[in-house]
Amino acid sequence: MVEIWNKSKISKLSLNEKNQWFEVLNDKLEEDRNISLLDPLLKEKQQEIKNDYLTYIDSCAKATNFYKYYILTDNAKIVSVCRINIYDNKFLLEGLQTHKNYLRRGFATKLINEMINDLKIDGITTIYSEARKWNEASNGLQRKLGFIQYGQDEVNILYKLNVEAYLKKQLFDQWASNYNQSVIKSEHQGTYPFAGYSEIKYQIIELITKRRSAKILDMGVGTGEITSPLYNLGYDITGVDISEKMIELAKIEMPKATFIKKEFTEIKSILNSKFDFIIFNYSIHHLSYDRQIDLLKNLNPFLEDSGSIIIGDVSSMTQDEMDRLEQKYNLIWDDEEYYPILKIYQKSNLIELYEIRYMQLNEVAGIYQFRKIGN
Ligand SMILES: C[S@@+](CC[C@H](N)C(=O)[O-])C[C@H]1O[C@@H](n2cnc3c(N)ncnc32)[C@H](O)[C@@H]1O
Repeated sequence: MVEIWNKSKISKLSLNEKNQWFEVLNDKLEEDRNISLLDPLLKEKQQEIKNDYLTYIDSCAKATNFYKYYILTDNAKIVSVCRINIYDNKFLLEGLQTHKNYLRRGFATKLINEMINDLKIDGITTIYSEARKWNEASNGLQRKLGFIQYGQDEVNILYKLNVEAYLKKQLFDQWASNYNQSVIKSEHQGTYPFAGYSEIKYQIIELITKRRSAKILDMGVGTGEITSPLYNLGYDITGVDISEKMIELAKIEMPKATFIKKEFTEIKSILNSKFDFIIFNYSIHHLSYDRQIDLLKNLNPFLEDSGSIIIGDVSSMTQDEMDRLEQKYNLIWDDEEYYPILKIYQKSNLIELYEIRYMQLNEVAGIYQFRKIGN
């Protein structure tokens, strides 16, 4: 369970709560302050450290830069803590610590998940953190959590994390193991969102296999459902996904393919070759329409001259049609997805870069081919 200690809660903390909180942070504090465990004044010095900490927690109730403390409990005992402070309008994650008896059991990650969910509700889009350059464990944890290094100073590596991307990754990691079954179920029922999934898959395979060989970039490769048949036919596959759990499953199907664990919008800086096909199957809808259009533009230089981007997804020709679909599937409609709409692409300057072909496959799904226009 996670408790959030805001200023008002901190001003009312019981001594037991403060003692438990200090217990989590207490480990190796003597070492940090160069105090020998053989020091005859050890007890007094330890008490001094504790007093400092208790004074600090009390001061948070009034500190202007203090935002919130996040406290994870297990059987009513505090096991992991972290706080967010605000410096220069940046929300900085600090003091992430787990009780020494509870290490390596996933408590820190659970705490961070809950914290990020709460920050999302508060409308915070980016959080920052710092780790001492020499602290490998701390740097490893930042990277594992998905923090991206954006700089460094003399002592620290500076990290930042996109809140929305983190939550999306969590969602897909959780979905990975039963993703294929949920697609089959929805397709079988012929309903939103996956009605027509197999037909899209076969259309994509048919289009690509017109060529004997091709380099394919699968954006949002998921479990490899779309590109693994092509991999088995000898096509060269690179899969991109934000979720390592999805990539783990795709790797089982395509052990020699290349995988890139990245957010779509960060991929541009990593790609260094051109592709014959770039596929987004049920994946581009995770970006807003503006970001979809930017991404499709940014990928243009990574397409061979005769190359195409293929998008298969829940789709319609017009906004009105999409609105009607939303009405029909009102109870299960996902408001956070931006399904492709032909008119939106046609009205953008994508038409200067691509010849857009579209086929509506059924009331829910459609398939696009964006053929690169030669210079
Ligand atoms: C609905 S699944 C589709 C998977 C696969 N293309 C298929 O057709 O079965 C969407 C996939 O896109 C990935 N994804 C979603 N948003 C992403 C983003 N912004 N950057 C990278 N991958 C993303 C998810 O992790 C997930 O594996």
